[in-house]
Amino acid sequence: MVEENPVLMREIQRAFHKLTHGGLLVTSIGENGRPNVMTIGWWLFGWFYHGRPMSVIAIRPATHTFKLLAEVPEYVVSVPTDDIAEVVAICGRESGRDMDKFAECHLTAIPSKEVRPPSIRESTLNIECRIYHPQAPPHMILTPEHRRKPVPEQHTIYFSEVLAAWSP
Ligand SMILES: Cc1cc2nc3c(=O)[nH]c(=O)nc-3n(C[C@H](O)[C@H](O)[C@H](O)COP(=O)(O)O)c2cc1C
Repeated sequence: MVEENPVLMREIQRAFHKLTHGGLLVTSIGENGRPNVMTIGWWLFGWFYHGRPMSVIAIRPATHTFKLLAEVPEYVVSVPTDDIAEVVAICGRESGRDMDKFAECHLTAIPSKEVRPPSIRESTLNIECRIYHPQAPPHMILTPEHRRKPVPEQHTIYFSEVLAAWSP
């Protein structure tokens, strides 16, 4: 259970600021144990029924992350420190299909507490999530503009429970 507390709320606020200032990082892992990291600019977070926190991300099928989430339905939302802005840009441009972004970007993968994908040392908060419902398109969740794209290009929306949130 992730309790609401002042430190966590401050870090969550910082996370929402980052969404519109470079983005957040999401780690995932394949069945083969190889991790990946990508940048996201869309994220929902909150405490819902039964006081349990939820995380919602939207991932395009063209990404390597999409493939990995189908293999292992867990991920970590990681809030990058200010000094790795260039790394966040690279992780939003390059694909883990073609390169090991952890190695190339000198990002430090550290074990997560509850999920298989790694957390990131160069972050202020790691939010460990397990997907309970991947909502594939077509769906009415995103904007009308989004729905005008061909269905195979539309984001899948991953509703997830938050199992841990901690600062490294
Ligand atoms: C600021 C920013 C925000 C992004 N947000 C998302 C997002 O929310 N969902 C998504 O599918 N791709 C998003 N992208 C694009 C992916 O990060 C990009 O396609 C990345 O190369 C995918 O990596 P992967 O193939 O290793 O999974 C974003 C890119 C940037 C730069």
